[in-house]
Amino acid sequence: MKPPDQLEPTVFVIFGGAGDLTWRKLIPALFDLSQDRSLPAEFAIIAVDRIKLGDDALRRRLHDGVNQFSRFGKAKAAAWNQFAPHIQYQQGDFKQATTYAALGRQCARLEKHWSAKAHRIFYLATPPSMFGEIPKYLGRAGLARDREFARIVIEKPIGYDLESALALNAVLAASFAESQIFRIDHYLGKETVQNILAFRFANPLFEPIWNRRYIDYVTITVAEAVGVEHRGGYYDQAGALRDMVQNHLMQLFCLVAMEPMVSFDADEIRNKKVDVLHAARPIHRDAVAQSAVRGQYGPGLNPVGKKVPGYREEDGVGPESQTETFAALKLYIDNWRWQDVPFYLRTGKRLPRQASEISIQFRAVPHRSFPPEASLGWQPSRLVLAIQPDEGIVLGFQAKYPGPKMQLRPVEMRFNYRESFEAPSPDAYETLLWDVMKNDATLFMRADQVEAAWRLLLPVLEAWSSTQPGDFPNYAAGTWGPEAVQGLLAQQEHRWPQPAELVKPGGPPKIKTRPGSS
Ligand code: BG6
Repeated sequence: MKPPDQLEPTVFVIFGGAGDLTWRKLIPALFDLSQDRSLPAEFAIIAVDRIKLGDDALRRRLHDGVNQFSRFGKAKAAAWNQFAPHIQYQQGDFKQATTYAALGRQCARLEKHWSAKAHRIFYLATPPSMFGEIPKYLGRAGLARDREFARIVIEKPIGYDLESALALNAVLAASFAESQIFRIDHYLGKETVQNILAFRFANPLFEPIWNRRYIDYVTITVAEAVGVEHRGGYYDQAGALRDMVQNHLMQLFCLVAMEPMVSFDADEIRNKKVDVLHAARPIHRDAVAQSAVRGQYGPGLNPVGKKVPGYREEDGVGPESQTETFAALKLYIDNWRWQDVPFYLRTGKRLPRQASEISIQFRAVPHRSFPPEASLGWQPSRLVLAIQPDEGIVLGFQAKYPGPKMQLRPVEMRFNYRESFEAPSPDAYETLLWDVMKNDATLFMRADQVEAAWRLLLPVLEAWSSTQPGDFPNYAAGTWGPEAVQGLLAQQEHRWPQPAELVKPGGPPKIKTRPGSS
């Protein structure tokens, strides 16, 4: 990481400073950055919220969050005592001009104290209903004016559909230039997601075969074992398509399919990603059933075999809820590289285990020159980019089974982050907050990308909201989603892969049986 003296004085303002995101993610990430000496020497956090709270009470609460969520475990007293004085609380209503005037005065006081102009980062850790309001007040108070020094950070959901996303982007654009707006998709902060670019474009090996000539199909899986937990109220209004596909899965889709960037410039990379969405074949409203499958979990078992309730019995969810907790899509990209290669995307809650991965299924060899008995159990090569919880890459290919005869068996080559690198992976928020401070927007969503993703999904959203699913709940907790999801791939005789496991107890499995003998 960049030495701290290269980061300029910064005031980090958090709207919703007494809220859950601040406690669980933002302060632990900032604290961890301080432990890596990656914060500027002149640094202040102003937590703004409506409730009455003193600096000390807030710091105690945040200390508890750091103890629970810091990458370094429980904070050492000396480290916390050094960090805590950087935090101050400002009580204020987000819809009162006086809040912003006070904020402006406090920023000016800090700058005077430091004898330096500071970067001002405004982080919206509030309910989405405030996203359209706070930027207006910041604009009116003159706090957005400095294009180089003022930045706004906003979390998903960026809108509820295309129309509301356009409206929100317009509100942001009225006060801030696009270069000042940082839209967070925390998937982009994950090491393994950033590694997709490194793997594809820092190695000459795979790029020549990364196309329709050699690749049969691609699957993108983001499986969660958890249910909606305490977020039923929010989730029931959103559903899997809005909560996961529109943002996280679309990012993975873009990274795996984009053309090589010319330079490592934020806009160059984002242009290449947005090109993928522009080239994605629109889904016709009356053909949604052939391209998309939805599901909702019923009661079942969690990964340790404990009984868990169905979605409709979760807190904050109605007994008749029609919200999907599982979504799968088939997409095509109409360009030279990908014409007619299906990209299958799936995500769901309460699946058998947490597993996020991209699987590249290569075509079979054009001609099998080995005798049929040599290649029983033949499998075309497959490359898996494992995102989480396993972090690494697996390449499956054919090898000769030891012995006098030529017999082939599928084997695997593995790269595992934890084995190859001593450095631990930072939390995604650490990476992203550090990038905001450096004013590097590479890992953030630009307005046009968000809008293009909504545009692509709009027919599915509309079709699903206008027709009731009828069969919900249609998968039991602890299973891989509704039966119908197999149908998306079956037409082309494709299959959802069993997610790869990088870390197997006792090391990689040994093949014990001779080909054809099992
Ligand atoms: C969030 C969604 O954006 O991502 C959650 O709102 C989901 O529903 C979470 O659980 C998954 O993130 P991760 O990093 O745990 O894969």
